[in-house]
Amino acid sequence: MKHAEVIPILDFGSQYAQLIARRVREKGVYSELVRPDISVEELQKLNPKGIILSGGPSSVYEPDAPRCDPQIFDLGVPVMGICYGMQLGAQVLGGQVRAAQAREYGRSHLHVLVDDPFVKGLPQETTVWMSHGDQVNTLGEDFVPLATTPTCPIAAVRHKTKPFFGVQFHPEVTHTPRGDVLFHNFLYEICQCTGQWTMGNFVDATIDRIRQQVGRSRVICGLSGGVDSSVAAALIHKAIGPQLTCIFVDNGLLRKNERTLVETTFRDHFHIDLRVNDASQQFLSELRGVTDPQQKRKIIGKEFIEAFKRTARELQEQAVENHESEIRFLAQGTLYPDVIESGHGYAGTAANIKLHHNVGGLPEQLGFELVEPLRELFKDEVRKVGEALGLPEEIVWRHPFPGPGLAVRVIGEVTPERLRVLRDADEIVLEELVAANLYRHTSQVFAVLLPIGTVGVMGDARSYDSVIAIRAVESQDFMTADWSRLPYDVLAVMSNRIINEVRGVNRVVYDISSKPPATIEWE
Ligand code: XMP
Repeated sequence: MKHAEVIPILDFGSQYAQLIARRVREKGVYSELVRPDISVEELQKLNPKGIILSGGPSSVYEPDAPRCDPQIFDLGVPVMGICYGMQLGAQVLGGQVRAAQAREYGRSHLHVLVDDPFVKGLPQETTVWMSHGDQVNTLGEDFVPLATTPTCPIAAVRHKTKPFFGVQFHPEVTHTPRGDVLFHNFLYEICQCTGQWTMGNFVDATIDRIRQQVGRSRVICGLSGGVDSSVAAALIHKAIGPQLTCIFVDNGLLRKNERTLVETTFRDHFHIDLRVNDASQQFLSELRGVTDPQQKRKIIGKEFIEAFKRTARELQEQAVENHESEIRFLAQGTLYPDVIESGHGYAGTAANIKLHHNVGGLPEQLGFELVEPLRELFKDEVRKVGEALGLPEEIVWRHPFPGPGLAVRVIGEVTPERLRVLRDADEIVLEELVAANLYRHTSQVFAVLLPIGTVGVMGDARSYDSVIAIRAVESQDFMTADWSRLPYDVLAVMSNRIINEVRGVNRVVYDISSKPPATIEWE
């Protein structure tokens, strides 16, 4: 999509590159990652208001260190270098970079030296986050040092004649509490941005774009009830109304009331043409006797594609019979991090540690053209769009739910009775979490049914029943996670209710493992 104002970020392999883009967007300016060796011509095509050079793990004095086209500094477009990006800019413009005496990692105290638009509004003393092995050692005559830390004499800098600004620390991380001031200054004091990137503008522009792409054709959309597909569906529906048909596959592995929530939201509230394919019998019969988690995932992935294709084929046949437009497009809720990580956009050079299970997705070769209205958005932006479109909070703020559903939370064989036990227990866990006002303060919370029986006493009799584990985590990106310190009182109510109300359970345990080394799901 063409953006009125763009800040490209040359990604030198920083683990924080995406975070920089998010910070810029939070300030109202569209930003995206680009290759570090992008040519000046390509950059100019983007018509950037400013350019950011990210951090990175290399040292600028190494022969094979990634570099940018030096002409970038002559475009007359403001450039902000962060960490490695500052060192690179300083080096190209005549400064000297050396290994620092000691690697610096962690909090440091920044002291602002001069009054300058770049550091305007920063307190004279403030905390910043450092993570570097090199630092700019000497600057030529052409630079003005703007701030120092006890160990880094040139912690922020500007060039005297060219619009180049640099910081040795990381303004994008939360450990630099006033980092947003620097982004604000760079965007509004230096690049003269006006702040066009709002979700309202995004919705309007995207509606136009969808209409242009789709014309009079029909679009199908696989709806899972998760945030991404729900927002994509609501947005496309706003653009093309009845030309959109959503397909919801009931795989028999959903949480309690999940199908009803999707039906009431999309069919009754939004009046979207929703087809529910109840394939639960088929899924459950294929899963009979299977205990291996990866095998479960494979079966579910394959059945999902089959079920989706079946419904799509029926719709296509109906369209022909009724002389309606054919279905040409498939809508997907792909997000910007997926685009980066799948390598379709610019694949970042940062170590890619995400294990993508990718079950519950559709293969590319289904024969449809893709409509991906959320391709440019981060998750928090998708939620804002969802809110703007009037989706209920229950959907907009939903915790993630894995494609293979409860099958990977029923440890061991998946049977209707074991699913019933897990569903009932899971419902109680979520009810109590919401009642304690903790849903929005946790990232993912659920129950797991373990494949063992334990001894208990119920009334006067000895019982031999199942164990439920409660899993609750807090996480930024689901690649790492810490277990939530849920209050004992809340856990106590969950446990009491599960044991009293769910037939077949006599023990509840709480999972206190973080990821890594554990994973969030048990399978
Ligand atoms: P783990 O268990 O790997 O999970 O720490 C990280 C995140 O991914 C979700 N997850 C899945 N999502 N298909 C999915 O679509 C899967 O097979 C799958 N396995 C795990 C998990 O719920 C968590 O949010």
